Amino acid sequence: MRQETPTFETRLKRNALAIETLLGRLLGLSTEPDEIVRPENLLGAMRHGVLNGGKRLRPFLVIECADLLGGSVDAALRVGAALECVHCYSLVHDDLPAMDDDDIRRGQPTVHKAFDEATAILAGDSLLTFAFDIVASPETPLADVQKTALVLALSRAAGHGGMAGGQALDLAAEKSAPDEAGIVTLQAMKTGALLRFACEAGAIVAGADATDRQRLRSFGEKIGLAFQLADDLLDLTADAETMGKATGKDAARGKGTLVALHGQAWAEARLEQLVAEAETLLEPYGARSSILAETARFIANRRN
Ligand code: IPE
Ligand code: IPE
Ligand code: MG
Ligand code: MG
Ligand code: MG
Repeated sequence: MRQETPTFETRLKRNALAIETLLGRLLGLSTEPDEIVRPENLLGAMRHGVLNGGKRLRPFLVIECADLLGGSVDAALRVGAALECVHCYSLVHDDLPAMDDDDIRRGQPTVHKAFDEATAILAGDSLLTFAFDIVASPETPLADVQKTALVLALSRAAGHGGMAGGQALDLAAEKSAPDEAGIVTLQAMKTGALLRFACEAGAIVAGADATDRQRLRSFGEKIGLAFQLADDLLDLTADAETMGKATGKDAARGKGTLVALHGQAWAEARLEQLVAEAETLLEPYGARSSILAETARFIANRRN
């Protein structure tokens, strides 16, 4: 009997469940060698920031990109879990009063509301650090050279020249509006860098050559731009309940976004264009990459 290929939604859900199971296990009270104790309140805040829903798109991309190039799914799952820890830390800090000052995330109180501000800061610090622990751990079935490449790429994507730097530019943009190129740069950093890493990480896990690694990296850059453009569009058009977070905030805070600059119709057309460019990058892989093409479309057309 012919085996049906699972639909995109089924695959996204299945991977999300696997990632959540792994993260739930990794974020347990029992210590690893050289850890002294995991304070219960801090661990509770980390778990609140991680195990609270979320689309789990970044781990999905790691897994699907690794799978495309014949990489180990077990290794990709662990690298995806590490990346999700970085992503969740970025959300915990993004929501802090000193940043976007949000009370609801993924339909639940933000970490600083459910706990307190100091605990939310430390939960973010701990999640970022833990990501590198997960990658380097002996339990991650990869060669040392792959782990080093992943640590380097994740550091560059998350740090001052990547996500955190983009967040700094995003805050500065509330005070002095950047031009179009400035907005594209800050978005490529605050959101694009982690999505670029997700795709490139899949290639590293698979031990891919420089051509495949570069191709998936470019694919990640395209969908990274699309991701934030869709987020900014949804901030304007969607309601808070569907999004699980406040909407209508970008305009209120005077955020420099491409939607603010060019309007909704332009943004929708630009999303179509970015998806087409992302699909072109996948052409050499033929039908095997259809799940990644669907992911690009999902990112552009998502409703939450
Ligand atoms: C939200 O990311 C933050 C941005 C980078 C725009 P997601 O929309 O992936 O959030 P979750 O993980 O599904 O909650
Ligand atoms: C977030 O951008 C980017 C991050 C690095 C967390 P936003 O501030 O627009 O994300 P949301 O809308 O709060 O999820
Ligand atoms: Mg923000
Ligand atoms: Mg925000
Ligand atoms: Mg937003």
